[in-house]
Amino acid sequence: MWKPPERIKYKPQPGLNPSAEEARSAVMFTPVKLGPLSLEQRTWVPAMVPWRSNEDGFVTDDVLDWYERFAKGQPGAIVIEATGIRDIPSGPLLRIGDDRFIPGLKELADVVRSASRGKTRLLIQIIDFLTIRRRPEPAKYFARFLAVTDEHRERLEAHDWTEQQIREHLAGLPDAELDTILTEPELEALRMGYRERVTDLHLPHVKNLPRVLPDLFAQATRRAREAGIDGVELHYAHAYTMASFLSATNGRTDGYGGPRRNRVRLPLEIFQHIRNVVGEDYCVGCRFLSDECIEGGNTVDDARYFAVEFARAGMDFLSLSRGGKFDDAKQPLVGWAAYPYTGRSGYECMPGYISDDFGPFGRNIEPVAQIKAAVNGAGYNTPVVVIGGIHGFQQAEALLREGKADIIGAARQSLADPDWFLKLRLGKGDQVRVCEYTNYCEGLDTKHKQVTCQLWDRLQLATQDVALSRDGRRRLVAPEWDSSD
Ligand SMILES: Cc1cc2nc3c(=O)[nH]c(=O)nc-3n(C[C@H](O)[C@H](O)[C@H](O)COP(=O)(O)O)c2cc1C
Ligand code: SF4
Repeated sequence: MWKPPERIKYKPQPGLNPSAEEARSAVMFTPVKLGPLSLEQRTWVPAMVPWRSNEDGFVTDDVLDWYERFAKGQPGAIVIEATGIRDIPSGPLLRIGDDRFIPGLKELADVVRSASRGKTRLLIQIIDFLTIRRRPEPAKYFARFLAVTDEHRERLEAHDWTEQQIREHLAGLPDAELDTILTEPELEALRMGYRERVTDLHLPHVKNLPRVLPDLFAQATRRAREAGIDGVELHYAHAYTMASFLSATNGRTDGYGGPRRNRVRLPLEIFQHIRNVVGEDYCVGCRFLSDECIEGGNTVDDARYFAVEFARAGMDFLSLSRGGKFDDAKQPLVGWAAYPYTGRSGYECMPGYISDDFGPFGRNIEPVAQIKAAVNGAGYNTPVVVIGGIHGFQQAEALLREGKADIIGAARQSLADPDWFLKLRLGKGDQVRVCEYTNYCEGLDTKHKQVTCQLWDRLQLATQDVALSRDGRRRLVAPEWDSSD
């Protein structure tokens, strides 16, 4: 992962913990309404893909164990990981693109309800993504994947060469010469791996996205509701289809790109269609970016505009992330696909302990405060979730009291210690296993390996009933906590 050049090392600073009595009067542990849904407290475990599903996209026993463990910490809400809305092979990513996924998701909803003793509300993040391929072997690329065109012949001045001769010639050229012969998309396919964009209007399925996506999202929402999941988070963030529609880099010429009002059109049409299908009385919100953190990308000014549009449309919550784009992703190794969390924007999404002058903690707080102010200023009180390096009570409570956000999301801190909100509430904050922001977990995610936290591994590994990762070296869920300790 990219690291800021300053390379300043930070230690977590959770600050003072509340006593049980102080926690009772903390804003963090007061209820909040997300439209028709009430959360018992303003604590939130954001979506995290742990690679526990199978090639068929079903809820497995490992998926159940994973969420059961988070639910034992009784946060106000848990958001189930990014779950695909299409019924297409997607590797071990959870899916919700067909009714056959409903029973497994229902079991998951039951497990969370029971493990949290009814205290945690469960949402599911639903996602669409476009095709991305692995970086090819150059020889294979020139032999098989490149479509030889008249432009190539022109630039090579090779009008009477056979296609085979052109392929062989290109395969032998140095990089600098290829730069003058291949197009930008061809160079990208060679050096990064082929990747579709929402602006590829020459591809019929990309052109048709505005026609097919509203119902794909709406049917996924209907299934979530039928499974007994309490609400849906539309994934409009990071590197995926809907964030790409919102992006300032979206130059579609069919009324769905260009100015902001066009870029927000499909995200709003999807939401409207969901409302038509599932009604007003089901919690639906979205996750989007406070800043894309890329050159020429959306800034907080765009995010303020989108937030007000989403609030006006009647979304039940707005959850803000930042960065996480393909645009500045590192070149992957041959045989690997590009990953959107490897560049500077990826760092902004999941800042690690090696950082710049600002440091890794709370980088999203001020942008989110500006976005919330815009929403409130426009006359809406849609709850806003802030996420990014939040790991201490003092910081979280202060930002809630100052009205900078309405709900505290913590992904990696909750992974390190799924009981941390509970420990704070019970006045046992000194027992919290504090995340060190090493991004060991993220490294596993990048390789699509079962995600675990490096702080768990030293504990109870020898115990017989501890489920282990495929390599047998890591436990699959956080150690249990005895609240009477
Ligand atoms: C292992 C892992 C998987 C993640 N998967 C998702 C995901 O499925 N959807 C999403 O929107 N964000 C995902 N994220 C990003 C987190 O939700 C969160 O925005 C990010 O980690 C920053 O918050 P934090 O500092 O509290 O960890 C993931 C993060 C991690 C560490
Ligand atoms: S591995 Fe654990 S300690 Fe490291 S960043 Fe992830 S959750 Fe935090």
